[in-house]
Amino acid sequence: MTIDELTRLVRVRRSIRSFKPDPIPDDYIGKILEVARWAMSGGNGQPWEFIVVKDPDTRARIFELFKAYRQIGDVMENTRAPEMRHPITGTTSQGQPMFKNAPVIIAICGDPRTLQATVLHAQIVGSERETYHMNMANATFLIHLAAASLGLGAQWVSTSPEWEGKLKALLGIPEPIRVPQIAPIGYPDYKPAPPYRRKLEDLAHSEKYDMSRFRTDQDVVKFIIELRKRTTAAYHPAREG
Ligand SMILES: Cc1cc2nc3c(=O)[nH]c(=O)nc-3n(C[C@H](O)[C@H](O)[C@H](O)COP(=O)(O)O)c2cc1C
Repeated sequence: MTIDELTRLVRVRRSIRSFKPDPIPDDYIGKILEVARWAMSGGNGQPWEFIVVKDPDTRARIFELFKAYRQIGDVMENTRAPEMRHPITGTTSQGQPMFKNAPVIIAICGDPRTLQATVLHAQIVGSERETYHMNMANATFLIHLAAASLGLGAQWVSTSPEWEGKLKALLGIPEPIRVPQIAPIGYPDYKPAPPYRRKLEDLAHSEKYDMSRFRTDQDVVKFIIELRKRTTAAYHPAREG
C-alpha cells in the first residue's frame, strides 16, 4: 500500500449515522475483525473481544437502550449554552434513525484484567487505565478503517454506565468484561457532508512548541462553537429517498 492510498482511506472513512438495512456480505465482518486484532496495545495486552450481532431483535433492543440513554444525554446537554451543545443532542428524539437500520452491530468488549500487561510503573501511578482505553480505541479505529476499505460505513457509539450494564445483560457478557463502545456497520443511506479537520500548519510544530500558535481558552471556546456549526450536518444527515 502506498502513502497516497492510506491517506485516501483515512479521508474516505467517515462516521455514518444512518444506514440502509441491506445485509453485508458474509465474509466482510471476519475480514474487519482480522484487521482489528492487529491493533497496537500497551504491553501487547490485547484486551479486545468482539461480539457480532446480526439478530434483528437483539439489534432493536440495543437501539432502544441507546435511545433511552440519549434522553438522559439530551437533558444534560440542554443545560449548556446552545452554541456549545453537542450536535448529537435531540437526534433520537427527533426520529433520526442513527444506527437503527444497521444490519450488523459489533460490541467491542475489553478485558480490564489485561491492564497487568503494562509496566508496573503505569500500574502504580494509575495511567494503565488510560492505556486500556487507548488500546480499545486502537482496535475500534481499525474496525472503522477496515469497514471503510470495504465501502461500508460505521458509527462509533460510546456506551455509558447508564446502559452498559443493560447491554452486558442482553449479550450475556460476564464480569469483569466491559463494553466501552459498539460499532454498528452497514451501507450508508446518505452521502456524508465534507469532513472537517484542523489545518496541518495549525497543529504541527517543528523542534519546539511554537507558542505563537498556542490557543487561549477563548480561542478554544470559539473553536468549539465553530466546530458545532461545521459538524451539525454529520449528526442530522439528509437521507436519500
Ligand atoms: C473516543 C470517541 C468517541 C466517540 N463517540 C461517538 C458517539 O458516541 N457517537 C457518535 O455518533 N460518534 C462518536 N464518535 C465519532 C466522532 O464524533 C467522529 O469521529 C468525529 O466527529 C469526526 O468525524 P468523522 O468520523 O466523520 O471523521 C466518537 C469518536 C471517538 C474517537
